[in-house]
Amino acid sequence: MGQRLICCLDAPSALQPPPLLPVRRKLLLLCIMLFLWLYMFYSCAGSCASVPGLAGRPAAGAGEAAATAGAHGEGLQVLSKLLRRAPSGGAMGLAGSAAASPSEPREEQSAAPDPTSPISSFFNGSGTKKLPQAIIIGVKKGGTRALLEFLRVHPDIRAVGAEPHFFDRNYEQGFAWYRDLMPRTLDGQITMEKTPSYFVTKEAPARISAMSKGTKLIVVVRDPVTRAISDYTQTLSKKPDIPTFESLTFKNRTTGLIDTSWSAIQIGIYAKHLENWLLYFPIGQILFVSGERLISDPAGELGRVQDFLGLKRIITDKHFYFNKTKGFPCLKKAEGSSKPHCLGKTKGRTHPNIDREVVQRLREFYRPFNMKFYQMTGHDFGWD
Ligand code: A3P
Repeated sequence: MGQRLICCLDAPSALQPPPLLPVRRKLLLLCIMLFLWLYMFYSCAGSCASVPGLAGRPAAGAGEAAATAGAHGEGLQVLSKLLRRAPSGGAMGLAGSAAASPSEPREEQSAAPDPTSPISSFFNGSGTKKLPQAIIIGVKKGGTRALLEFLRVHPDIRAVGAEPHFFDRNYEQGFAWYRDLMPRTLDGQITMEKTPSYFVTKEAPARISAMSKGTKLIVVVRDPVTRAISDYTQTLSKKPDIPTFESLTFKNRTTGLIDTSWSAIQIGIYAKHLENWLLYFPIGQILFVSGERLISDPAGELGRVQDFLGLKRIITDKHFYFNKTKGFPCLKKAEGSSKPHCLGKTKGRTHPNIDREVVQRLREFYRPFNMKFYQMTGHDFGWD
């Protein structure tokens, strides 16, 4: 009897594996399931952000709806916060997937892992794609690339590298397309893009206002005469056979009549373009950055921009050094890198010598427009 009892008591432990094994197996299974669940969650957050019925031509207010639809649930936000990097590290690499603009060669955009891949965004700290809350709308050759590259150092700014040209050339693609170009952002981070041609695009103010009335706008302005010469220099670098700057400037050189239909001249009539924006945005929602001061005092201008965006002044003079060879300020550490970084060779070109009389005539031409612009913005840029 006693023997049978011992036999019966011993038998189960002899046949079954040690009790710890199933626990381990279950734990392993749980881990795998948790990982799969997280992966699916992030994949869904990524693709859902670009889906919600917003493709096609956007209607007024559609952008705000799109922004809301793209917002993630609280669970993801908590997870995002947990995964968020320490601010001191700077924002992550985020070269945009937009088609590169001809005026923005690829060398100007920092190389970065594909931020749109759900798995890469999972490991990078993730977030969701949002429509931009702030846009650098102009002006061409004002120093827009420098401003964007400098701003990207801020951990609370994430910007698409290439120019999306959404509000001028690609509006028909719809807001879902536009948002999909944006990098992922976490709570408190600002999504930005720059397309300098918006400033002179008649439809852009109404379209941006339809996306969100609260969009913050930034315009980098530069002496319109130097800007025109810079614009011409860029075209000349691509088409060396174009006529001289002097001949393109005038409709009639003898009478001194300026050809205002030439875009290099037209873009610099800032007061005229600004009038169009003021029909849709209050002046306080537009920040004017001096292209000249962006070179002579980058930290000072960046301070103003950070204030305007409601961000902590993290980018300071400690971030810049003056590169004598380049002749421009450069970053001591580029965003997502520990190396010094100057803008590419298409930024800061040597300008051709222009006839002094022509330059003088252009100064006279722009003076009244500049005065009006100073009046409108409440800021004397000192070009006259
Ligand atoms: P130039 O090439 O005529 O000198 P954008 O980026 O809007 O096209 O503007 C280009 C201009 O940015 C350049 O015009 C240059 O003067 C100016 N710029 C401002 N800060 C700069 C910087 N840190 N490095 C290079 N160019 C800078």
